[in-house]
Amino acid sequence: MVIKKVKTAVFISGTGSNFKNLIKFSKLKNSPIMIDLVISNNPGAKGLHFAKKNRIKKKIFTFKNQKIDEKKILNFLKRGKMKLICLAGFMKILSKSFIQQFKGKILNIHPSLLPKYKGLNTHIRAIRNKEEFSGCTVHFVSAKLDSGKIILQKKVKIKKNESPNSLAKRVLKQEHILYPRAIKKLFSNP
Ligand code: GRF
Repeated sequence: MVIKKVKTAVFISGTGSNFKNLIKFSKLKNSPIMIDLVISNNPGAKGLHFAKKNRIKKKIFTFKNQKIDEKKILNFLKRGKMKLICLAGFMKILSKSFIQQFKGKILNIHPSLLPKYKGLNTHIRAIRNKEEFSGCTVHFVSAKLDSGKIILQKKVKIKKNESPNSLAKRVLKQEHILYPRAIKKLFSNP
């Protein structure tokens, strides 16, 4: 049976290792998604070169005027019949109205065990607070930052004397496993 893949746009701002990983995942025969578009607010985002390599359309919206750019993005997504947005290191906070118009179809990956450590610098904060575990979370995007319904989480044990950098690396490795798993979970029949 040939499965019809869900047309997906990935939003990035930086390195794009999750983007790269989602591309790899999308190419698997049994992956529920196909990545058709990458959007970035940052024209210098390193991750954008994965778009060229994989012949994925890329669009830059600087968000200098967020309202106008979001309107343009929504039009673009609708025209392209995009059905899912995966935020992957996207550093802009989407407006309520944008999220409303794509309700239940925007996912994000966050480098902490939500609801703990929303926002930035999650690893430093987790280490400072002497947490035993950090980790990552894939969740639906809601109007409140890093607060939407959780799809999947993965714990990572914090080592003795661990630096934020080394923790970030180990968590990122798990992110690359978790994001595809969460997408599969979402689209697999119960
Ligand atoms: C990841 O840690 C992700 O959880 C966070 O931003 C980082 C993006 O990394 N939202 P990359 O650009 O995918 O390498």
